[in-house]
Amino acid sequence: MMTLDETARAILTGNDRGGYTVPNGRVYPFQWNWDSAFVAIGFDSFDPDRAWAEIETLFRAQWDDGFLPHIVFWKDDEGYFPGPSVWGTAFDPMTSGITQPPVAATMLRRLWDNARARGDAPAFRPRLEALFPKLLAWHRWFRDVRDPDSRGVVIATHPWETGRDNSPEWDAPGEPIDVSNVGDYVRRDTSHLDAKMRPTKLEYDRYLALVQFGRAKGWDQAEIARTNPFQVADVGMSMILLRAHRDLLALAAELGRAEEAHELQQMITRAEGGIDWLWDEDKHCWSSRDRLTGRFSGFVTSASFLSFYAGLHDPLKDAAMLTHFERIGAKVQFLMPSLDPDDPGFQMIRYWRGPVWAVVNYMIGLGLAECGYDAQAQRVRRDTAELMRRNGLYEAYSPIDGTGSGGDDFSWTAAIWLAWARDAA
Ligand code: GLC
Repeated sequence: MMTLDETARAILTGNDRGGYTVPNGRVYPFQWNWDSAFVAIGFDSFDPDRAWAEIETLFRAQWDDGFLPHIVFWKDDEGYFPGPSVWGTAFDPMTSGITQPPVAATMLRRLWDNARARGDAPAFRPRLEALFPKLLAWHRWFRDVRDPDSRGVVIATHPWETGRDNSPEWDAPGEPIDVSNVGDYVRRDTSHLDAKMRPTKLEYDRYLALVQFGRAKGWDQAEIARTNPFQVADVGMSMILLRAHRDLLALAAELGRAEEAHELQQMITRAEGGIDWLWDEDKHCWSSRDRLTGRFSGFVTSASFLSFYAGLHDPLKDAAMLTHFERIGAKVQFLMPSLDPDDPGFQMIRYWRGPVWAVVNYMIGLGLAECGYDAQAQRVRRDTAELMRRNGLYEAYSPIDGTGSGGDDFSWTAAIWLAWARDAA
């Protein structure tokens, strides 16, 4: 019988395709942006060199303007839809044309801190020097292209960018998307997985209509940001970017880059000043908001709890979020469901409308611990560990009974076990 540590390491090495790791061998056969950043902290527990390589490989697919794609198609795989020919980005290597939550700077800082703690800093410093400008270029891209109102938030132009692909937060903002010319296509996700877990046909039509829109604009990101029919300030990406700015600032200080540190401090100040635009006073929670209509999503999701991770110390808002935390915690066996279980649309196994994701728990738990909410932090970490011990290393889990959904050999879940959950109190 393998221990869970051994299983987790075997998943990472088994999903390693040489310099990058696929999220899972069957459903997701390429390199995914935020998956790779989390995978790196898992590798770091037994192979630091390989951990750094994961992030280096990802940044080899960065575009000249700083944009970092959500998928890198290092090798084509016909079993996946929509593949490189659908995206048509004309970039080498082939990539998708949208991005994903910017967790990379935060994970890189962890790799760097670990290297220092091991006394390995001199060996890794040149690699940090080389990665730093690439990360900064991506953060500048968010500032220059995805924050048109200078609020310090992130506007997502596709639900897949948020990483919470079919969260109900995207339903209302998705309504104006014209799906009449999408044409016929064959989905692959529902041939690998139970359709009950996956997005509906209408949701999928909208995803593809947005891909076709971007392609018709030649993937000109500035033009897409101006004219896209879907423009949502995502609470998840906004909190994650603010946190990532802070970590990149710490790395700038390590490297003695005063000018860049100053610039990052300005990005942080802007976000701290503007992020209240995502505070829904009616619902008393952090929430995503449609830029085109100004409407709040009205949903409490797992991303609402990332304010702690973002390092926002606002006593009244923290108290309101902790009240939601207690209410939801009393209702489910395992935190943190991706959607409020009191919401009528809650479904315990449909993607991002109920299930728990280990990576989101990691960010929530880390943030709570850093803000001194120890009991809540421990609950999130213990629940995560329990889900994995009882069920294995699945893509996601039911918050009600812990059943795993998606693949059972999931790279980022394995990484979160190794980097965090295994040491739950
Ligand atoms: C799904 C998730 C997304 C993730 C990808 C690969 O699309 O919603 O967040 O990056 O799978 O694991």
